[in-house]
Amino acid sequence: MFHSPIVPRVRKRKRSKSPEASISRHEGVKFEDVRVHLLERKMGSSRRRFLTHLARSKGFIVEDTLSDAVTHVVSEESQASSLWKWLKGCGLKNLPMMHILNIIWFTDSMREGRPVAVETRHLIQDTLPTMAEATTPTPVATVSQYACQRQTTTENNNKIFTDAFEVLAESYEFNEMEGPCLAFRRAASVLKSLPWAVQCLGATEDLPCLGEHSKAVMEEILQYGRSFEVEKILSDERYQTLKLFTSVFGVGPKTGEKWYRRGLRSFSDILAEPSIHLNRMQQSGFLHYGDISRAVSKAEAQALGNIIDEAVHVITTDAILALTGGFRRGKEFGHDVDFIVTTPELGKEGHLLTSLIDQLEQEGILLFCEHQASTFDMSKLPSHRFEAMDHFAKCFLILRLENSQVVGGLHDAEEGGRSWRAVRVDLVSPPIDRYAFALLGWTGSRQFERDLRRFARMERRMLLDNHALFDKTKKEFLAATTEKDIFAHLGLEYIEPWQRNA
Ligand code: UTP
Ligand code: MG
Repeated sequence: MFHSPIVPRVRKRKRSKSPEASISRHEGVKFEDVRVHLLERKMGSSRRRFLTHLARSKGFIVEDTLSDAVTHVVSEESQASSLWKWLKGCGLKNLPMMHILNIIWFTDSMREGRPVAVETRHLIQDTLPTMAEATTPTPVATVSQYACQRQTTTENNNKIFTDAFEVLAESYEFNEMEGPCLAFRRAASVLKSLPWAVQCLGATEDLPCLGEHSKAVMEEILQYGRSFEVEKILSDERYQTLKLFTSVFGVGPKTGEKWYRRGLRSFSDILAEPSIHLNRMQQSGFLHYGDISRAVSKAEAQALGNIIDEAVHVITTDAILALTGGFRRGKEFGHDVDFIVTTPELGKEGHLLTSLIDQLEQEGILLFCEHQASTFDMSKLPSHRFEAMDHFAKCFLILRLENSQVVGGLHDAEEGGRSWRAVRVDLVSPPIDRYAFALLGWTGSRQFERDLRRFARMERRMLLDNHALFDKTKKEFLAATTEKDIFAHLGLEYIEPWQRNA
């Protein structure tokens, strides 16, 4: 049997969430106004599944995800303050209106067969945020300079500033000025974590990572609704050209710069220039440019998960497949879809990736593949090279995805109804004892990973990368089978994947 002992593998098509499935979940609903969410924290997934089933069988609506639609949150957490801190970090607008309840409310309601009235004994008491408190900025002094100590959901309340900072960071990157580039990325990351929108510069006073330059840009935006410096960059020919060139799969800033220096300004300039030899990746990048420069939707990512799951299943009945990257962080759209694939038995993962590539080829859906064999060697660790690529076997693919395979159809299909699109997919295959490190590293975001490594180095004298965690004081590697183990070794509060959108 194909199973995943560590994380649930991507759902198979048969079990995927179809419109029918969501209708049947709401069948027999008796209490339309009450939407319960059972918090998995402290409850555990199997107990939660059991209680969910019980409540639904009694006509309750139980929401799988915690969103603003929820009216009653049930938790088995004993530490109210930690629960509230966590809830406040979830970016919920409706939190002040929700009932945050202990399990007694739930068991009372199950016994009565209806949602019982909320009494004081049901409440998880804390310095409960009043309406006013919940909408007041949290004390900024508590914001950490490290992204791995902040909770950052996909909801960005400060997009007007962070979009501007991204342009500035990219412009510095194109000019190979790493310091200011990183400074703007850090500043953007801090603002993304705030559960409130910055309305005046005074509100940023105690925030970390915001330098004079960042604040000047913010001030302009607050005053005029735009940044003149950013507008100047956006209209700059060099920036525009490098942005265009680096949007091609296989073209990095160095190649982009080389082409720009040769006076090339457009794709047709490049394709018409006989002295330019495109590598295989770049050729495919141009060939499928229209498709792969278009965002991939969550439904498309799920469909690809099903396809890869089935392909893996043909090869072996014993494998682990997990979605990672931005979609694991709950993003609605991504530039590619990232998966980890390995075997529960150490050493058996060796040929998995090449067999999987062969299988996808046989199915006629492999449009491009660059396979990199593993160069992983535990004896060469720990690596002191910051941000080096990892050594696991991996492949960068372009796959053909049929419209009919996607629930609700392809995203943003052009007029005339294309029946398929090309999608970028990355697969990485670490040995099972490296799984937790690879999962943490590939889940991202890039800024979250950077700060995890910086935190490990600066605050704990440890070296972290996609392969391992090394304690420099004890001079030993620290073992981990789950991401939680790694956070625990680092003495960090666990941050859920969907809170890592730094
Ligand atoms: P992506 O570039 O796919 O980013 O890398 P993303 O967060 O999924 O966002 P999209 O795809 O643009 O929507 C995912 C994570 O994998 C790591 C990156 O650092 C990032 O955190 N990664 C990627 C590696 O660790 N090694 C690699 O070779 C490639
Ligand atoms: Mg990705």
